[in-house]
Parts: sequence; C-alpha cells; structure tokens
Amino acid sequence: MSSAGHIGSTDAPSSRKTVVARILHITDFHFLAEQGQTLLGVETELSFAAVVERANQTPWRPDLALLTGDLVQDPCVSSYQRLKQRLTALNVHCYCLPGNHDDPRLMSELLPSENVHVSPQILLDKWQIICLDSTISGKPNGRLSDEQLRLLEISLTEHSDRYALIALHHHPIPSGSLWMDTMVLENADEFLTITQKYPHARVVVFGHVHQAMDEVYGRLRLLASPSTCFQFKPLSPDFAVDRAPPGYRWIELYADGTIDTGVERLAEMPAGLEFTSKGY
Ligand SMILES: [Fe+2]
Repeated sequence: MSSAGHIGSTDAPSSRKTVVARILHITDFHFLAEQGQTLLGVETELSFAAVVERANQTPWRPDLALLTGDLVQDPCVSSYQRLKQRLTALNVHCYCLPGNHDDPRLMSELLPSENVHVSPQILLDKWQIICLDSTISGKPNGRLSDEQLRLLEISLTEHSDRYALIALHHHPIPSGSLWMDTMVLENADEFLTITQKYPHARVVVFGHVHQAMDEVYGRLRLLASPSTCFQFKPLSPDFAVDRAPPGYRWIELYADGTIDTGVERLAEMPAGLEFTSKGY
C-alpha cells in the first residue's frame, strides 16, 4: 500500500513523523434489510459504496478501517451478509463495534472473516486501539457497562507503554443538538474520569452524531465523523437533516503519541435525500 499524502486535505498528514498506523474511520452505514431499500430517501448501501470509492480514489491507503456502529439499520442476516461482502472487498482489515441499531450478538456471529474483525483490542507498535460496546439492548441511548469500563481500565493499565485510541458508538461529550444529546453516553463522566487518569490515552473516536466533531477534553482529542449516508444538522434543537454530503475521516497515529486527522466528503449529497423529514 502506498503512503503518499492525502489529496484534497486541508490538514495534510506530516511526512516527517514516523507513522504507526493510517486509519480510515467510517461509521453509521445503516444498511437495510433488502438491497434497494431507502432510509430518508437514501439508498444507504450505495451511499456507503460511494464513500469507500471516494477514499479509494486518493493515493492515501489505510492500514486498517475502524467502523463505529450503526453498521445496519435492520439487524438481520441479509443486512449483515451484504455488509460483510462489501467489507471483504475492501481488502483492508476492518474493526467493527456495535451502535444502537445493531444486534451485537448477530454482528459478532455474521461479520468476522479473514479481514473483518469484532475485537475489543488492537495492539499496534506504540499504540493500542480499544473498542467499547456502548449499546443498551432495545434502547437508542448509550452507556458503558461495568464490564466495559473494566475492560477500558485494564487495557490502559496493562499497556501503559502504548498510546491509546478509544473507539465507541455514542458521543461522550455533548454535540450541542438537544435531541441528539438526550442520547449522549449516560456515564460519560465515569468514562472521561478513567481516561484522564492515564496520560497515554490520547484519542476518542465515535459515530452516532452523523456529523464531524473535533473537540479537546484535557489531554484527549475527541473525534466524530460524518455518516456514510445522511447527516444530522449541527446545533439543531430538534431532529433535522443536514445538507452536508456523506464522508469519512482519515487518522494518522504517530510514534510520538501525536496524530493528524481530517474529514473528506463526497462532492454531492445522496440522491433522493429527504431534507424535510422529522425523524427516521
Ligand atoms: Fe446512526
């Protein structure tokens, strides 16, 4: 895979630093039960394919892809199998965690293959990636169970020689959209308190908000990425669809614990997008 700079990026990765991993962050695909079905007017599977194609058109090549939940809208055999086929074709290691629309058990049963993984931890040279499950069965809200908080703390303790990127579905800081923030990670305080105890915890990556976010909390950089289908309007008190096109985030982890990152989008919004919808 080539490691050339990222075309069209406003925050180009540095070529001077030692790159540990190039990560493609893609999230909230919302695959439907049957091919050709739409959600908010969007054929979500085609929109996913267009975003991945957009990433493939650049010379930048990821070492791995991080998929942070709502992989499907309809958690069933058909949606996960079609997603698996598309992920296998990407020919890059894909690490998946569930969102509120996923069925974590079905996802773990159906998705894994040679290059598709559902794994709580990825150990890299100088860095680790910790994948947490923030879903609550049957609810759109997010919460980290005691078991998930323990997993986080054990991972940070046992690999204190590595910088850490923590991935989860729900946002651990408010987005500024009142309706969306009713689903903020319920025990975000507990989560953030743990991360602040470990100076090598550097980055949190999440989905759910269907918009790009880039915030700082203490030593932590908190990053959300656009959905590969429809976007939610930032800072809106009520549900509102945004006119921003779908996209992805690239992240480069460096050996000195720093990162570079940026968001790339399609040139256009998905065909058929229903802007006036009041929910989905
Ligand atoms: Fe979503």
